[in-house]
Amino acid sequence: MSLIEKLNWRYATKKFDKTKKLTSFQLDELLHAVHLSPSSAGVQSYKIIVVQDAAVREKLQQAAYGQAQIADASQLIVFAAETNLDARYVKSYIDHVAKSRSIDRANLVGYEQMINGNVSGMTEEQRITWAKKQAYIALGVLLTSAAELGIDACPMEGFSAPQFDEILGLKEKGLTTAVIAAIGFRAEDDAYSKLNKVRKPEEEMFIHI
Ligand SMILES: Cc1cc2nc3c(=O)[nH]c(=O)nc-3n(C[C@H](O)[C@H](O)[C@H](O)COP(=O)(O)O)c2cc1C
Repeated sequence: MSLIEKLNWRYATKKFDKTKKLTSFQLDELLHAVHLSPSSAGVQSYKIIVVQDAAVREKLQQAAYGQAQIADASQLIVFAAETNLDARYVKSYIDHVAKSRSIDRANLVGYEQMINGNVSGMTEEQRITWAKKQAYIALGVLLTSAAELGIDACPMEGFSAPQFDEILGLKEKGLTTAVIAAIGFRAEDDAYSKLNKVRKPEEEMFIHI
């Protein structure tokens, strides 16, 4: 299948086949792809929780209007934004850049100041919104990569973030739930898999200047 055929093949899966699970190779491959997501200034201001445990997923399902995908999928992926984006967080990122690229730490002070300037110019709410935006990029990478790998997924915003944070103990980790995705394999009788895609006409979407 071409890329476009794969993107047409994918859809927000409503009914997963409970008996079909990702192999550990498939899960690793998908997570490696998500790990490579780009982020603003490279700070990767989120963490990704892979939830497999059935009892935890049952609780999460209750906190997501009972949506079946949460319990029936192979795994539930929770994208959680950092709530403590401060100078210490940025310092640790810059240390990591220096190490990864074998750069003298002193040469990165200007870059560190630039990021700190941006971060300190935001309110706490703006910082969390910024962090969440980066998590959504990772969601996009997950959806496209899953399609490439023949894995089904359902992106979801229909849940209570405070309840998710509570169930997963995220507050104490300095995290808050941004968005989630169920991953697995479609049930053969998921009627949604047969529906035509609904997208704006391209001429309405794209403005060529
Ligand atoms: C950020 C986001 C949140 C969504 N939340 C839900 C959700 O809570 N439950 C659900 O069944 N589908 C959810 N969807 C799926 C969309 O309804 C679906 O992607 C859209 O209608 C386009 O259809 P397609 O993905 O099947 O092509 C969500 C999609 C996105 C991108």
